[in-house]
Amino acid sequence: MYDTQFGNGKILAEKFQKEFSGEYEVKTGDVKDIDPQTVANDNPDVLILGGAIRMFRGATKSKKWLKRLDKALKYKGNNIKYATEFLTHGLPTDKVQGFKKRYHKKLEKASSIENVYPEILTARVKEQEGPILDSEMEKAQNYIHDIINWIK
Ligand SMILES: Cc1cc2nc3c(=O)[nH]c(=O)nc-3n(C[C@H](O)[C@H](O)[C@H](O)COP(=O)(O)O)c2cc1C
Repeated sequence: MYDTQFGNGKILAEKFQKEFSGEYEVKTGDVKDIDPQTVANDNPDVLILGGAIRMFRGATKSKKWLKRLDKALKYKGNNIKYATEFLTHGLPTDKVQGFKKRYHKKLEKASSIENVYPEILTARVKEQEGPILDSEMEKAQNYIHDIINWIK
């Protein structure tokens, strides 16, 4: 899942999808289009939730979506086994550590999620509209491989 304004979050989500495909069935969607209830009913094994920092606020929409998903999962009695997050941003990486931590905490707080990967992925964009920096795409590629190994 992702929250995107200019498509960078979608690009990252599709990168995850490409790397996971073959071994896993992967669905992607924007948090504004996909009702958490639908995902709770679908009962996936893995959740990868993307967000963006905008106006010095970290992944607001994605955090709200996660809260609703957790409620819907609890109601259904379903759990998600593995989850992680990614965060796109314009500021230098060392300036977004607080946003990263707070976003990560929301995932840890979600009681219907069993295992949270200890590190979330951050991806810096060159301009507000993108693109994601090449070095950040390389970092993402390694991160995705680590996640795949983690859930195996
Ligand atoms: C109105 C606006 C405010 C933004 N504020 C921040 C900010 O406070 N900190 C930051 O790191 N990036 C900021 N950005 C950059 C966004 O993080 C970037 O546009 C976004 O991650 C790109 O991903 P997307 O195409 O998926 O939306 C801002 C972008 C916009 C459009």
